[in-house]
Amino acid sequence: MDLKAFNQLSCGLYLISSAYEGKESGCIVNTVQQVTAEPAQLAVTINKNSYTGELIAQSGMFEATVLSKDVALEQIGRFGFQSGRDTEKFKGISCLRDEEGIPYVKEGMTARFFCRVTGQMDVGTHRIFVGKVEQAQCMEGESMTYAYYHQVKKGGTPKEAPSYQGEEKGQPAQKGWRCKICGYVFEGEALPPDFVCPICKKGPEYMEPLAG
Ligand SMILES: Cc1cc2nc3c(=O)[nH]c(=O)nc-3n(C[C@H](O)[C@H](O)[C@H](O)COP(=O)(O)O)c2cc1C
Repeated sequence: MDLKAFNQLSCGLYLISSAYEGKESGCIVNTVQQVTAEPAQLAVTINKNSYTGELIAQSGMFEATVLSKDVALEQIGRFGFQSGRDTEKFKGISCLRDEEGIPYVKEGMTARFFCRVTGQMDVGTHRIFVGKVEQAQCMEGESMTYAYYHQVKKGGTPKEAPSYQGEEKGQPAQKGWRCKICGYVFEGEALPPDFVCPICKKGPEYMEPLAG
């Protein structure tokens, strides 16, 4: 199987958030899609270990925001590489709350949808939630694609994502360094001694040389 074929599937990047009885979390996904127009429904695929997924299952609601090309990479590190079980992801950042109290981020997002769950499907490692859109709002900027995130932002994908391909598979040989935590790729022979990963904020000791 040629894993590079999967890279030809076009998709964007999104922040999904939910809240239930004072608990809240959000995670980065690349698996939002519109499934029907009448009524307007979105589907999202979430790992069974995800805290956000657990809160969606309990509350029956979620917010989906669309990441823009100029979203701070730190936000992807915050929401995509750590679990809300271990850290309060919305603490200390600028966020708003919808009428149900679910937090969402406006800065670096191009659109927002509030969805009420109408169905879910068990697909093994993940669950697909389908939600009816009750509110939709445009924000600013140009939406980020998954390809742009990898090719231009040099970002990585954790194993919890359904699109994960392993550390080397599906990636062209490159010279440079890869962050062992988030997969961010620094292109260049030498790593600056004061290097800080723009996604997960780790130092040079977490960087490993690429095989290429
Ligand atoms: C680029 C990218 C794409 C991702 N796509 C998905 C996805 O589609 N589904 C999923 O469950 N996790 C995905 N993840 C991983 C989650 O964001 C990550 O496991 C997160 O830490 C879960 O947090 P939580 O436990 O607070 O919900 C993705 C992460 C990144 C960085």
